[in-house]
Amino acid sequence: MKVEFSSSVKYEGAVAAPVFVDNRHSLGADALDKASAGAISRAQKGSRFTGKAGQAIEIKAPSGVDAQTVVLGGAGDRDAADALSWEAFGARVLKAVQMSGASVLEFDMRELDDAACARVAFGALLAAYRFDKYRTTLADDKKPSITSIRVICSDSAAAKKLFAPLNETAAGVVLARDLVSEPANVLHPEAFAKRAQDLEEFGLEVQILDEKDMKKLGMNALLSVGLGSNYGSKLAVMSWFGAKDRKEAPLVLVGKGVCFDTGGISLKPGAGMWDMKGDMGGAAAVTGAMRALAGRKARANVIGIIGLVENMPDAAATRPGDIVTSADGQTIEVQNTDAEGRLVLVDALWYGLRYKPKQIIDFATLTGAIIIALGHENAGIFSNDDALAGALDAAGKSSGETVWRLPLGAGYDKLIDSKYADMKNIGGRGAGSITAAQFLRRYVGETPWAHVDIAGTAWKDSSDDPREPTWATGFGVRLMDRFVAEQCEG
Ligand code: BES
Ligand code: MN
Ligand code: ZN
Repeated sequence: MKVEFSSSVKYEGAVAAPVFVDNRHSLGADALDKASAGAISRAQKGSRFTGKAGQAIEIKAPSGVDAQTVVLGGAGDRDAADALSWEAFGARVLKAVQMSGASVLEFDMRELDDAACARVAFGALLAAYRFDKYRTTLADDKKPSITSIRVICSDSAAAKKLFAPLNETAAGVVLARDLVSEPANVLHPEAFAKRAQDLEEFGLEVQILDEKDMKKLGMNALLSVGLGSNYGSKLAVMSWFGAKDRKEAPLVLVGKGVCFDTGGISLKPGAGMWDMKGDMGGAAAVTGAMRALAGRKARANVIGIIGLVENMPDAAATRPGDIVTSADGQTIEVQNTDAEGRLVLVDALWYGLRYKPKQIIDFATLTGAIIIALGHENAGIFSNDDALAGALDAAGKSSGETVWRLPLGAGYDKLIDSKYADMKNIGGRGAGSITAAQFLRRYVGETPWAHVDIAGTAWKDSSDDPREPTWATGFGVRLMDRFVAEQCEG
């Protein structure tokens, strides 16, 4: 998608203008109305459009206006308009005309501030996302027609400058969505590691550890998950040194990268198992975030570590009851091979702690139980540090990728004590997301740590948010991008 900003008013394709609550026109909407001799107002009166956020109406080829179609987008309350509401406006409008036949979408934002102009383009870009690469018979009229966006604004140079970093963030979101959407026969652990390596192009330092390297380090918890797979397990480390001092303690991000989760010997039921190609959503979020941060040259040191494995049943696979020793020496009784994400994470966390991070945050599609608790509206967070949890909550609110904190505690920790080893990898029937977090908690010591369970937010079967496609959302990229901007870049 091409995005440009222009200070001159010229309409050619689909033209959009904001309308605020109670049908209060922006200058663009007003100009369109005048040029069309009131056709816009008449169309509005004949509809239920009032300018409420989320609304849009289309008026085809009104005479007097050089446009194929005019879209009025509800921009809500003018005084309450903020970055997120402008994103939603841009996204909603894009969705309204994406298939219309017009190839250019012009937003007439002439009197609105530069930040709003940049956000509208960002929202439209997020909304334009599709994963069509495997559709060979898609009819031409089922393909998007919009291929470029032009935002008409008073200071196009200023808006363009504000948009540049957002464009990188969007590229990170798109990367994460693509990775989650790819099927597991294509995006297996070795292929994912290559995709991570490709990010060197953006100035990231990338290092790939293979099974031999990890064996040497004793990372047997992670390795135990991949024993049944034909693909080699990998650990990819993506480093971005953007702070003034390369030695400044980094933020470490860790991602669960289970490229496919069959459950292993504790095999999952068949119905719906196909969604488990997305069980690398944590790794995708971390990879997308690293792409975004490097792209916009974030002034912070950030290390992204992803554990890449495939969980398959096989003669060589881990059995229920097997005991494995993780890299830090703690022993784990694997009672359920479907609780594999935590096994991957603890060795990746251990590796991350070697960087002496000032904070460490992991992302994982870890538990079905988090969907029971929070649905698809919020990711669950767990933390040993109130300030970090608060900072994540704030970044969630400003990015729109919201989180909700759940508790940790000694009573929950007891539930994963094992008869034969230091711990077992499942708790009882209750508090499944919390016992999973307690398992991770046993590895992080006093380092400020947060765990983000994105099992309910990494993909969704449907969404009311026009920025999100159906299925892979790229959840975590915007959250981490905001977190770094608010907490690390000062
Ligand atoms: N990858 C799943 C969790 C999951 C479920 C993610 C649904 C997205 C949607 C994870 O590895 C898993 O299987 N967890 C088990 C844990 C249980 C065996 C303790 C679960 O949630 O049932
Ligand atoms: Mn599982
Ligand atoms: Zn899993």
